[in-house]
Amino acid sequence: KKRVVSGVQPTGTIHLGNYLGAIKTWVSLQDLYETFFFVVDLHAITLAHSAEELARATRTSAAIYIACGIDPSKASIFVQSHVQAHSELTWLLSCVTPISWLNKMIQFKEKSRKSGEDVGVGLLTYPLLMASDILLYQSDLVPVGEDQRQHLELTRDVADRVNHLYGGRKWKKLGGRGGRVFKVPEALIPPTGARVMSLTDGMAKMSKSATSDLSRINLLDTPDEIANKIKRCKTDSVVGMEFGNEERPECNNLLAIYQLVSGKTQQEVVEECAEMSWGQFKPVLTEALVMHLQPIQEKYAEVVADPVYLDSILAEGAAKANLIADSTLQNVYNAMGFLPKK
Ligand code: TYM
Repeated sequence: KKRVVSGVQPTGTIHLGNYLGAIKTWVSLQDLYETFFFVVDLHAITLAHSAEELARATRTSAAIYIACGIDPSKASIFVQSHVQAHSELTWLLSCVTPISWLNKMIQFKEKSRKSGEDVGVGLLTYPLLMASDILLYQSDLVPVGEDQRQHLELTRDVADRVNHLYGGRKWKKLGGRGGRVFKVPEALIPPTGARVMSLTDGMAKMSKSATSDLSRINLLDTPDEIANKIKRCKTDSVVGMEFGNEERPECNNLLAIYQLVSGKTQQEVVEECAEMSWGQFKPVLTEALVMHLQPIQEKYAEVVADPVYLDSILAEGAAKANLIADSTLQNVYNAMGFLPKK
């Protein structure tokens, strides 16, 4: 079976962008592939974080995965810091990766600009932690949103480089699997939903870090909060809803959201909404969002009510993950020529 891995950072709350760009795709993959979905808590400390909040946010994220339909009997769900190989491989990768590759990362440039002088080293090397998350599992596919495309490209380049430097004959003699240390993974980016935009600015990505909560729909928002956010979202003065008009980014974004949460095809949405005014469309969208999120929120309430169950899922997931991750890590140590432990 092919392997799939992906994760979300436990910073802030999980929003519709994380769900439509990533988690919803994960659900559709768990029947077909061997899947590993982790809460990337080590990533959550690249910017200033609250030590009081981290553990709670980590639990919440794991519960949301399950609430969204990730089934622990099919997928391994675990917390990144519970599998030590992630941190360890990051060091090895950081020694084979040119710093210029990391300096080119758009997310680093954007986030470091905002943080100014105080930016931590981890913000720069973070894509290598992500590469470790992926390469440790010899993953085939990585379902993510559009904003992670560049990090996936970097992961592929790092894998190629390690394979080139250390995957040769010398390693084969040591009993390795013949020339390749890492499988080179591919990004899986959905055709719709890969870039969900802010409700208050159709040109900006919906994000956890935006200061106004009115800019995003969080998966745990109440029906009233959803109605209020949709009521106050940015619109334009044109009557009729349409896809793909670059002059109307808000309209395009909200129609795409409607398509995904209603489960309709683009054609059906066009037929239904082409003549609608914003005033007619907004309650329709609100209703579809509330209906889609309601069962997720009910399941979430069930899962968080039973922390013993959740912890046992996470322990089981980490145990499975550790087996695979440790074995890959040992192969990397061998390939790079370290003295094996006796
Ligand atoms: P993070 O936590 O920022 O986002 C989690 C996932 O949500 C997607 N996403 C979006 N998709 C559509 N529209 C949006 N507005 C939007 N905002 C976020 C992201 O593309 C991502 O798929 N570094 C990663 C997490 C990570 C990871 C990994 C992912 C760490 N290790 C290994 C895959 C494999 C991140 O910060 O995602």
